[in-house]
Amino acid sequence: MLRMVLAATALVIGVTAVTAQQDPIAARKALMKSNSDEGRIAREMMDGKRPYNNETAQKVLAAYQDTAAKFPALFPDNSKTGDTRALPVIWEKKAEFNAAVAKFGADAKAAAAKTKDLDSFKASMSEVGRNCGSCHDAWRKKG
Ligand code: HEC
Repeated sequence: MLRMVLAATALVIGVTAVTAQQDPIAARKALMKSNSDEGRIAREMMDGKRPYNNETAQKVLAAYQDTAAKFPALFPDNSKTGDTRALPVIWEKKAEFNAAVAKFGADAKAAAAKTKDLDSFKASMSEVGRNCGSCHDAWRKKG
């Protein structure tokens, strides 16, 4: 069973790598989509709908850091148009955009170090979560 899971994971990672080169728009949207899936798991733990598990909490924060690490490379010049809500200002102010991405990663890292139990996780998530909205407000088309 574990072997199957590992094989499936390897396959997914392989596919993501290919997609990132061939279709950066799809790749960056997939990363964001997985952020919101992780966020849903976090929300369920915070609402008491699933028991708090520190390993799961750390996985959520690790996924955010992973997104932040991969995100800057997924905005090449040829990905300004298409099925995307990324605003043109991303390419006009690349350094500023990348700084917002880096802040998201750094906040998630700091939050991971502080997260030990449900209370500290809630505090962490409210800090890290602010990055989602503020970045979308500034850099993403309203939809
Ligand atoms: C530094 C900027 C930034 C941060 C931080 C950020 N996002 Fe995004 N997000 C974007 C951009 C830009 C897009 C639009 C991508 C596109 O359409 O090409 C996006 C798109 C999305 C989408 C739509 C994906 C799709 O399938 O079209 C979701 C869902 C999302 N983000 C969730 C989140 C969540 C949840 C967080 C916080 C945990 C977050 N984002 C943090 C910039 C950010």
